[in-house]
Amino acid sequence: MRTKIFVIVLFNLAIACVPGAQRDVKFQQYYAEGELLYQQHCANCHQTDGSGLGRVYPPLAKSDFMMNNPDAVLCLMKYGIEGEMIVNGVTYNKAMPGIANLTDLEIAEIATYIHNSWGNTREMVEVNQVTPILAACPPVQ
Ligand code: HEC
Repeated sequence: MRTKIFVIVLFNLAIACVPGAQRDVKFQQYYAEGELLYQQHCANCHQTDGSGLGRVYPPLAKSDFMMNNPDAVLCLMKYGIEGEMIVNGVTYNKAMPGIANLTDLEIAEIATYIHNSWGNTREMVEVNQVTPILAACPPVQ
């Protein structure tokens, strides 16, 4: 009887652990790829540490805009954004060019990286979440 319970407990533990472990590995892959892509495409303006640059390039580190507008963050990577925006109480107004050739997966990886770096903490952003959001981005003026 005791052995049976032990086996059942072990079995449940194994089931409980495996999806979590796989998710961890996926998160690490997304994060690592996202960091490379960020350095390549974004760090010029937003800086390696996500702190932005003066009143020209807004910060991504602890950005309230990012926290409150996760969908817009995906759209602006691909399509760019312009017009006045307020980030952490500071007004910015300079056009950010979109990077049209980023794939949905690359956008998910960059989003996972920036939402989980420099004090930001959010869930990982998976490619299957990104695709429908990008398809519904509001048109850029
Ligand atoms: C040429 C400079 C430049 C590059 C390259 C660039 N950005 Fe931006 N980004 C800006 C500017 C300028 C704004 C503010 C736009 C405005 O004033 O409307 C901005 C705004 C943002 C915002 C919203 C405001 C905030 O701080 O939360 C996010 C998020 C963002 N960029 C992420 C990225 C990511 C991710 C990349 C790379 C894929 C990237 N940017 C590449 C210049 C840039």
